[in-house]
Amino acid sequence: MLLKSMFVPLFTAVPARGHPGKLSVCSVRNVVAQRCPPNCRQNGSSNTASLLLLHKLPPISAYIHLPFCRKRCHYCDFPIIALGSSSSNPGNDEDDPRILNYLETLCREIKATKLDSANSPPLETVFFGGGTPSLVPPRLVSSVLDALSYKFGVCSNAEISMEMDPGTFGEGKLKELMNLGVNRVSLGVQAFQEELLRACGRAHGVREVYEAVKIVKSCGVENWSMDLISSLPHQTLSIWEQSLQLTIQAQPTHVSVYDLQVEQETKFGVLYSPGEFPLPSDNQSAEFYRVASRMLRDAGYDHYEISSYCKSGYRCKHNSTYWKNKPFYAFGMGSASYVDGVRFSRPRRLKEYMDYVQNLEIGLTNCSEDDIFDAKDLAMDVVMLSLRTSDGLDLKSFREAFGDSHILSICEVYRPYVESGHVICLDGQGRTIAVNEFLSSFSNEFWRNEKLAYLRLSDPDGFLLSNELISLAFGAIAP
Ligand SMILES: *[C@@H]1O[C@H](CO)[C@@H](O)[C@H](O)[C@H]1NC(C)=O
Ligand SMILES: *[C@@H]1O[C@H](CO)[C@@H](O)[C@H](O)[C@H]1NC(C)=O
Ligand SMILES: *[C@@H]1O[C@H](CO)[C@@H](O)[C@H](O)[C@H]1NC(C)=O
Ligand SMILES: *[C@@H]1O[C@H](CO)[C@@H](O)[C@H](O)[C@H]1NC(C)=O
Ligand SMILES: *[C@@H]1O[C@H](CO)[C@@H](O)[C@H](O)[C@H]1NC(C)=O
Repeated sequence: MLLKSMFVPLFTAVPARGHPGKLSVCSVRNVVAQRCPPNCRQNGSSNTASLLLLHKLPPISAYIHLPFCRKRCHYCDFPIIALGSSSSNPGNDEDDPRILNYLETLCREIKATKLDSANSPPLETVFFGGGTPSLVPPRLVSSVLDALSYKFGVCSNAEISMEMDPGTFGEGKLKELMNLGVNRVSLGVQAFQEELLRACGRAHGVREVYEAVKIVKSCGVENWSMDLISSLPHQTLSIWEQSLQLTIQAQPTHVSVYDLQVEQETKFGVLYSPGEFPLPSDNQSAEFYRVASRMLRDAGYDHYEISSYCKSGYRCKHNSTYWKNKPFYAFGMGSASYVDGVRFSRPRRLKEYMDYVQNLEIGLTNCSEDDIFDAKDLAMDVVMLSLRTSDGLDLKSFREAFGDSHILSICEVYRPYVESGHVICLDGQGRTIAVNEFLSSFSNEFWRNEKLAYLRLSDPDGFLLSNELISLAFGAIAP
């Protein structure tokens, strides 16, 4: 059963590769700050560029890792810094030296980043993830946005998202953040049951969830997402249905659903074995996934990516950068960037991260040569990322970039899955191509004549098999 590993946010899921370990000296060019135009043309990092060239474009997205949490949740193996509790007086965080020092280093990292083109376009999306970014005082968030504007420019209509946890912000703080430009809130709700929240080691309870929703609404945030976790210990189907029902009632414009992944080094990893009581069995987890897909779609949400749902027009632009294999910057401890075709993960420990930034400032980095580019790896990344989405794999651009042979071999390995309905073939207008038409094409090679325009995984059963199906495609590309 392959359910478990597929819900990991891409932030950690994309393997870092292609950066040689050797130390080399890179020139740090001083680039004059770019002031942003009032409104950005949306084709900055063009949709029409060949898949082979996308990674050469300058990024227009930035991920910012703000690692602070009250305490570590029992399932979490992210690079975080637990501050301990000071919830009675939220103002206490204002001058916490750990937060001040980290944010100072983070801004230095942004400023020391090497820009490859003197006229790189301003950022169109910024995502503050964590950790619990909403623990960081707004004036320090402002310093990060200033550093980004100074270095890259930020479009006035940029999507600026922040992960926020119930119980860590009030109306005043959210309004301040909105004044700084934050216009999308990703609310870490996870569950609607006191016992489950406690069992996860979450710092908030159900009351804080409702309060947070009320605050988000009263501040008039149009774009907000609720994050939920399925397959928690002691979670039953009816408890899960209740969480989904309450989520639907709250009417967020976006919902992210992650299946619990039990990591070795976490408290859950010590306490529980995957698939064994009190964790749900793999079959139950799969059922949770199907129920989420059915209930959310029935409530008008578009299931546009394996773990993401949204009301029409509310896809997360930042995350779409990932699915489209477009480049993005990342700043902060443990964060992973994709610039110039190179995925690079920063150190996960504070001390090493600080050293890394210091080296960056004096021009010492483990930077890559330009020619480590491998077309097969790129083809696999494109397959893996695009098959996570409901748009699926765009065969026209894939063919233009990588030729016919990969498509032919992918179609061959997918043949039984087209028959079983896990893989769906679409024409250029997004209409489903009948299975027998697909099968008969193996004699007349119709994938060459562009009728077959997209391959996608079916929802929910194809998505549930995504790991297996993506591995099969990998085998077809690089046998
Ligand atoms: C470069 O990478 C090597 C090995 O991965 C590491 O030991 C070294 O500290 C890194 N250097 C810098 C400047 O980050
Ligand atoms: C946007 O697209 C147009 C037409 O494809 C192109 O001429 C223009 O250079 C692009 N602008 C940017 C900033 O890439
Ligand atoms: C899990 O589901 C599969 C297919 O639906 C079924 O064949 C199998 O018996 C189930 N396993 C358990 C332990 O319920
Ligand atoms: C909400 O998100 C949509 C889709 O990205 C965007 O068009 C809209 O401008 C956003 N609204 C606000 C108030 O930021
Ligand atoms: C977007 O990606 C981030 C990781 O960068 C992830 O934590 C988040 O849940 C994703 N979904 C949304 C709706 O932001």
